[in-house]
Amino acid sequence: MSATGEVKRPVPPDIRARKGGTPLVVLTAYTTPVARLVDPHCDIVLVGDSLGMVVHGLPSTLGVTMEMMILHGQAVARGTAKSMLVIDMPFGSYEEGPEQAFRNAARLMVETGAAAVKLEGGVHMEETIAFLTARGIPVMAHIGLTPQAVNTLGGYRVQGRGEDAARIRRDAEAVARAGAFSVVLEKVPDALAREITNAIDIPTIGIGASVDCDGQVLVVDDMLGLFTSFRPKFVKRYAELGEEADRAIAAYAAEVRARTFPAPEHVFGEKVPGK
Ligand code: KIV
Repeated sequence: MSATGEVKRPVPPDIRARKGGTPLVVLTAYTTPVARLVDPHCDIVLVGDSLGMVVHGLPSTLGVTMEMMILHGQAVARGTAKSMLVIDMPFGSYEEGPEQAFRNAARLMVETGAAAVKLEGGVHMEETIAFLTARGIPVMAHIGLTPQAVNTLGGYRVQGRGEDAARIRRDAEAVARAGAFSVVLEKVPDALAREITNAIDIPTIGIGASVDCDGQVLVVDDMLGLFTSFRPKFVKRYAELGEEADRAIAAYAAEVRARTFPAPEHVFGEKVPGK
């Protein structure tokens, strides 16, 4: 709480200080109404580039643009008051080098009010993460399964099994060394996620990783049962809003066809003078 009685949002150093403490709660949001629903319950609301698949029906996150991120980021910012807002850097907006990354990260933060950006990559992003953090841009890193690299990874499979674990460990160490304030670990074996969480001094935020991570993130439409095109093993459905919506829409369609909607209470009469 601030001196004016307003709720103080956490900032990246607050999140970093939560290492080893009460697990961080993170959900995505893409619109104002959903942001209003998740904000009271979350430490961080992430405007994920998953919006390309979840909201825009794209086959992957590769087609997501800066303009899409900014539009949804602004919508989510209007719906959050208590949580910290983090926004994804879309594919192609940061990989060329630190200067390109700075230009686009600054634009995302200035135009949406986000407190930090998230970008995908480990060792090969170390220089960029260090460059951004030294210039006032807090970075949440994202390693393991990095969906923007789906074409080089050869699909959405678990990363870091067997000998490949060393690569993920190196990525985790690199992003921590570079100054990231937290790191998303996506789709890595439970034991590896636990080992990395114990080894690095920044919070790990798991998705398909381990209950021992310092926090968890899910795509909100997945956990509400609204996105049903496919269902990764790591998604727990806390509600079936898709089925509920289907029932409601079918009932509406039936009532329209039967002329039972609108009912008398939904229509207007003449205005009675003097009343
Ligand atoms: O884009 C996204 O929503 C994400 C989370 C699933 C971590 O990157």
